[in-house]
Amino acid sequence: MNNRRGTRGSMTTRLTIAIDGPAASGKGTLARRLADYYHLPHLDTGLTYRAVGHALLTHGLPLDNLSAAETAARQVNLANLDRELLSAHDVAEAASKVAVYPTVRKILVDKQRAFAAQPGGAVLDGRDIGTVVCPDADVKLYVTASPEVRASRRLRDIQSRGGTADLTEILADIVRRDQRDVGRTDSPLRAASDAHLLDTSEMSIEAAFQAARSIIDAVLAKRDEA
Ligand code: C5P
Repeated sequence: MNNRRGTRGSMTTRLTIAIDGPAASGKGTLARRLADYYHLPHLDTGLTYRAVGHALLTHGLPLDNLSAAETAARQVNLANLDRELLSAHDVAEAASKVAVYPTVRKILVDKQRAFAAQPGGAVLDGRDIGTVVCPDADVKLYVTASPEVRASRRLRDIQSRGGTADLTEILADIVRRDQRDVGRTDSPLRAASDAHLLDTSEMSIEAAFQAARSIIDAVLAKRDEA
């Protein structure tokens, strides 16, 4: 074994991990840890929708300007997504508004699939990875937590960066974004039928990581037996 994905002879095993879930469920942190552990490249697909929302906000364009959103989507460069710049609350709102447009989604999904097609595989997280972007992923995880727990986590996150926010408002935002993500016609947020569910409401990040790791290792072990 020369890495944690295992080897068969000199061939390193390809591994694609699809992680979906609602806002602040912990899927991003989990995805980053898994990518690190299995030595895989990682794409937070939420950033691609945020980049489109951010471009429209920056140019003072309405979020329902479809042709501007399509142009912004074409210009998204996966190698150049600035997490810090795109982390703002209004950018998240804008992202979930432009994410309802099928043509915008198609442009971004093509880029996401190209990322997932890397020779060794990849970890992608988002809302439609197991259902639409990578329906053939080796492992699919659906990470969730109660809205209240997610709102508290988001508040702690904001406070740890020196900011202030109101828990009730955060909760309302989360619920509104969930409704938009679950209710849209194209690629709504839902667990793939073959996804492993991870409810992290009462789990630490470490516990969620260990749970995900045992699911993935079991899949890898089964594949090695075949
Ligand atoms: O994950 P994040 O909060 O950064 O996503 C921002 C928004 O982008 C989501 O609320 C959702 O509307 C949209 N999104 C999506 N499909 C994805 C990832 C994100 O529709 N695969």
